[in-house]
Amino acid sequence: MGTRKRVLIVGSGGREHALAWALSRSPRVEQVYVAPGNAGTSWPATPRSGPWAPGAPCVRVAVAADDFDALIAMAHQKQIDLTVVGPENPLAAGIVDAFQAAGLRAFGPTRAAARIEASKAFAKVFMARHHIPTARYATFTEFEAALNHVRRVEYDVVIKASGLAAGKGVIVPNTQDEAEAALRRIMVERAFGTAGDEVVIEERLYGQEASVLAFTDGYTVVPMPAAQDHKPIFDGDRGPNTGGMGAYAPAPLITPELLDDIVRTVLQPTVNGLRAEGAPYVGVLYAGLMLTDAGPRVLEFNCRFGDPEAQVILPLLENDLMDVLEACLEGTLDRVAVRWRPGAAVTVVAASEGYPGPYPKGRPIYGVQKAEALPGVLIFHAGTELRGDRPVTAGGRVLNVTAIGDDVRQAVKRAYEAIGHLYFEGMQYRKDIGTKAMM
Ligand code: AMP
Ligand code: GLY
Repeated sequence: MGTRKRVLIVGSGGREHALAWALSRSPRVEQVYVAPGNAGTSWPATPRSGPWAPGAPCVRVAVAADDFDALIAMAHQKQIDLTVVGPENPLAAGIVDAFQAAGLRAFGPTRAAARIEASKAFAKVFMARHHIPTARYATFTEFEAALNHVRRVEYDVVIKASGLAAGKGVIVPNTQDEAEAALRRIMVERAFGTAGDEVVIEERLYGQEASVLAFTDGYTVVPMPAAQDHKPIFDGDRGPNTGGMGAYAPAPLITPELLDDIVRTVLQPTVNGLRAEGAPYVGVLYAGLMLTDAGPRVLEFNCRFGDPEAQVILPLLENDLMDVLEACLEGTLDRVAVRWRPGAAVTVVAASEGYPGPYPKGRPIYGVQKAEALPGVLIFHAGTELRGDRPVTAGGRVLNVTAIGDDVRQAVKRAYEAIGHLYFEGMQYRKDIGTKAMM
């Protein structure tokens, strides 16, 4: 088996807790570090018994995800064999290039390949060049020209700041006035800063949305079970958008045939195209899709695992995650048979009062141990910190209450039973996560 590995996860949310959990279950992993992590990302070594026991110990390191020099110094000092990068910002800023230059292995795309998420304008031209199905669009850097365009086009529009805006840079207007106000917000008031230097105006598409993520070594594409996120804060998809209030996988609306179709028309051409253009893509490639009457269309690419999609996809993976990640880095993904367990997983986000607006911090969280003792339940921490021994709220999305089951219905039932044991003042969560999959 060789020597056991030491891994570092970069990031601090529920996705990173799920990655730390999955890697700690690998018999090939000796120690997990998370920088900077949260209250959930530290545990002692546990026997790898039972379906959910983590395994290798995990510790937090107080280094920020954007402090590459400190991360590299720490990776050398702690003799890290593999670093896995959770969020998009360090990827877009070139963390993988920096690690490579320092002689370290990091899982994720280089800065050049991460442009597929970091620049929506780049992604649109790239898709046009490679005939990848997406909405019609135009890009603008001048407000007047953009305004003239939305006044002229015959289709409904969606307005997007081209750069990274923490998932908030997309506005879906319902009227002409709202469209013009959106342009003013991004281009004149500069609500998203330099992310709005360039604006993409695209045709509004209609249909159901789904996320298809894939592992890739730059050649081979291995799709994961399709997931559905729940972005609006309130039940029935009402209210403002959030980072995601819950998810489930697999999404039954993506049939095996449709998944093949998405690999053939979207994911494989994207990976081939980036390689052909000198920016080979290694990592997780995430396609946000609209399933229109005319077929799947790309709404966006992300250059990483989704949050909260990772929290439902990773518990379904039967393989040792370490094997899959290493195969991506070594260009041998074609030799790995990636298997998924039957059944389904659901995650319900417990959020702070006021989220996605301003919210209080520091509220004590109760009931985690009781909730995670239930069968099939995993509690991933997102915005939490420790005050003494007690976890307290420290972010908008606080906990990801995750469950697996024989089907979505059972997973949903378990997740909501678990959330019934949890409490913090002002806790809010959606009551309808997964119902779309049960209709
Ligand atoms: P994005 O970050 O580009 O995925 O956009 C965020 C959300 O905006 C998506 O999840 C969709 O709900 C919506 N959206 C983006 N592009 C379009 C489009 N062309 N048509 C309709 N809705 C869209
Ligand atoms: N759940 C959406 C994202 O990770 O971008």
